[in-house]
Amino acid sequence: MRVLLTGGAGYIGSHTAAALAERGHEIVILDNFANAERDVPARLERLTGKKIPIIEADIRDVPAVVAALREHPVDAVIHFAALKAVGESEADPLLYYDMNIIGTIRLLQAMQEANVTRIVFSSSATVYGQPDSSPILEDFPTRVENIYGRTKLVMEDLIRDLARTKKLKAAANLRYFNPVGAHPSGQIGETPRGVPNNLMPYVSQVATGERPHLRVFGNDYDTPDGTGVRDYIHVVDLAEAHALALEHIVTNDVSITVNLGTGEGTSVLQLVTAFETATGRTIPIVIAPRRPGDVSSYYANPALAEQTFGWRAKLNVEDMCRDSWRWQASRAGINDI
Ligand code: NAD
Ligand code: UD1
Repeated sequence: MRVLLTGGAGYIGSHTAAALAERGHEIVILDNFANAERDVPARLERLTGKKIPIIEADIRDVPAVVAALREHPVDAVIHFAALKAVGESEADPLLYYDMNIIGTIRLLQAMQEANVTRIVFSSSATVYGQPDSSPILEDFPTRVENIYGRTKLVMEDLIRDLARTKKLKAAANLRYFNPVGAHPSGQIGETPRGVPNNLMPYVSQVATGERPHLRVFGNDYDTPDGTGVRDYIHVVDLAEAHALALEHIVTNDVSITVNLGTGEGTSVLQLVTAFETATGRTIPIVIAPRRPGDVSSYYANPALAEQTFGWRAKLNVEDMCRDSWRWQASRAGINDI
């Protein structure tokens, strides 16, 4: 297949590009580089050994997206391009409505104009809000707890509506749990701008010495060691899931909404220990107050993905820590692994 990846130069998009290329698919990337490094395409070409067309454009620019789809006729679009910071979304809701919701509407318009009728969409476990229990199944109620989560839910609904009304032949809403890690080649990874919000990038920067210690946000949650529990998923496993989901929906012309997690809950302290074991580095910690808006514990029931398109995560938390560290260490000029 030939596939256009919006936001394909970003963290999850670039890993998915590598996974698709490995499975023999052709990739076209459309990205405005708002949150991607300029050298990602060159790194991807080194990694895959393939020439990858890059279109620098905004998904809200319908003529540019239509032109890209006409120049590179594709079987499907994988839609990663979005803003993703919860705090920023609460500070500037209109920015998030514009980039995420209007952006998705514009992309869908361009696809319709260019007669592209299949889409895989990056959703998030954030649509479950504070769940009543874990493991979380896809039919659990959705809840909006912040503007970012609202935009994900609206984007999912838009895509489901177009599938129901047959404007789209096939669609996959993929609800990611907590993606971490990096490609084992060390060529691509996550490069947060400024101070990382998320746990793994923060821990990795403590390990390089860029940050003095990790602040553990709360140790009085109702969890085995009192710290927050999440379902971390290696980005390489996540990327493979995109390839399998895409192949499934295109072959069968069906629409699905599926969790992508490992099914394993890991606490903040367990992740720190796994990181220290995997890398031999020490991570100093300080216990800090709970972070507003945080959920105590959630993890996926990932059975539907396995039943539907035969995917399950293979990599464990130590793999995630080792690969995050390899990437972060190389960025910091540390020759450790
Ligand atoms: P990322 O920021 O690394 O990648 C997004 C890419 O989209 C970037 O390359 C950026 O330059 C591009 N982009 C942003 N706005 C654009 C626009 N208007 N037009 C064209 N390109 C644009 O983020 P990521 O972590 O790879 O996330 C990808 C998707 O997965 C997002 O939709 C995000 O909401 C979703 N998601 C991410 C996580 C996570 O923890 N990383 C979790 C759940 C869901
Ligand atoms: C965050 C986002 C969520 C998004 C998810 C995946 C918020 C409120 N939620 O969730 O919408 O889908 O990332 O990218 O931002 N922690 C620390 N110290 C730190 C950083 C994190 O103790 O410096 C703890 C958190 O309290 C939490 C766990 O580590 O218990 C994971 O945090 P994080 O990586 O930010 O992910 P989420 O909270 O799941």
